[in-house]
Amino acid sequence: MSAKFASFFYLISAVLFILSIGGLSSAKTARKGNLYGICGMALAIITTLMLPSVEHYKFIICSFVIGGCIGYIIAKKIAMTALPQLVAAFHSLVGLSAVFIAIAAMLAPEAFGITDGISVWRSLEMSLGTAIGAITFTGSIIAFSKLQGIVKGNPLDFALKNKVNLGIGALIILLILIFTFTNYHTLMYIITILSCVLGILLIMPVGGADMPVIVSMLNSYSGWAAAGIGFTLQNDLLVITGAIVGTSGAILSNIMCKGMNRSLLNVVFGGINSENSAQTISNKNNTNVKLCSEEDAAFILKNASSVIIVPGYGMAVAQAQHAIKELVDVLKKDDISVKFAIHPVAGRMPGHMNVLLAEANIDYDDVLEIDEINHEFAATDVAIVIGANDITNPAAKNDPASPIYGMPILEVEKARTVLCIKRSLGAGYAGIDNALFYMDNTMMVLGDAKKVTENILKAINTL
Ligand code: TAP
Repeated sequence: MSAKFASFFYLISAVLFILSIGGLSSAKTARKGNLYGICGMALAIITTLMLPSVEHYKFIICSFVIGGCIGYIIAKKIAMTALPQLVAAFHSLVGLSAVFIAIAAMLAPEAFGITDGISVWRSLEMSLGTAIGAITFTGSIIAFSKLQGIVKGNPLDFALKNKVNLGIGALIILLILIFTFTNYHTLMYIITILSCVLGILLIMPVGGADMPVIVSMLNSYSGWAAAGIGFTLQNDLLVITGAIVGTSGAILSNIMCKGMNRSLLNVVFGGINSENSAQTISNKNNTNVKLCSEEDAAFILKNASSVIIVPGYGMAVAQAQHAIKELVDVLKKDDISVKFAIHPVAGRMPGHMNVLLAEANIDYDDVLEIDEINHEFAATDVAIVIGANDITNPAAKNDPASPIYGMPILEVEKARTVLCIKRSLGAGYAGIDNALFYMDNTMMVLGDAKKVTENILKAINTL
């Protein structure tokens, strides 16, 4: 295939990727968006394979089959709750391949079609791509290990952390500049090693609660690394796709930070204080808790005229969404208004709750974002908080000492009655106690989210 045709097909792929991201921005169009993405990627791969520079297919087919099988098995087996660590693991591979490609292009430029020598710009692209790729590689491995529980999730702080990181960062930039003008190969290896160390030092001190933001940030890094390598390989599609991934990852990190009322700098260089959190829990007096049976919860719901359901991470763990759908149908049959309130950081990844609710065929129009529904709680009879915790914690509004102070929350405490369905009074991801559990209008229905919902449903049917 000629370069002109390849550029044309790459352009179509790029348009399909943009349509894909557009489609994925809403649950209604997500399937179509996914399809656009698959078509764009298939077209990109076929076009690349037909380029004259691709001479041997043996290794490509072998890698394709092995990689495809591994991808298929992982996609089939992965639990929804483990997606953030899977994404982190995949990002580490993007980072590593950026490093390999840049070093290979430096050692054998002709093999990459670079026949006019390595220019200053190309050296800059290569060294920058390597640095970002190496930071992404080790950073993603640490993020994966923390999310998977292999490495402790608590923030591991050390004295002079920020100064050490800034020092290494400055040294990497200096070496990149020297490499750009000298093309001295040893510098590239030193840049790679220092960037790998920086990736570890940057991510190790970040606490578990902030890890999804870090995964999204690493996603952005991996995009920029790919874009840098796209320049080296003179591959327009890689540049465009890398830039799309880079910017969308950055925007997503920003959305998540806003959802927690933190800045990205605070997430990377600050970290949630887990010691304070542990103290908050142990200091709490639990005598004010009202326990409620499933039968009582059924009675309360049956007599309500409006209900808002707030799902959280526990709903995903219990896979309670189908039982919730049945409950919603029964309540709606009784002319009770039922809506869902979604917090931007509910669960463990962006859109986590929306995906699960869509899987259970819950009407998209009943699923509302925090800004659309927060004002409705005050006029609502019952708020059901199911497997959610931090996103409903009033401490985020009234306790300046709380580590989540300033994070916008779903104001469920304003509803006439709050039914909290969870297994215990235990903490959520941020590791802090929830004042909601001790409020006069809150009733705790303790148990697994799915079982409790099923039992409430049974009890309603007998009323
Ligand atoms: P969490 O605050 O983590 O609370 C989840 C609650 O679910 C836990 O307190 C747990 O209590 C309960 N639970 C667990 N398994 C359960 C089961 N089988 N049945 C019933 N309940 C169960 O979740 P959230 O309210 O969704 O908040 C999300 C947290 O993740 C926030 O702190 C947020 O900042 C953080 N975070 C999320 C994201 C994204 S993008 N979603 C990004 C960054 C950070 P029990 O153990 O007592 O049952």
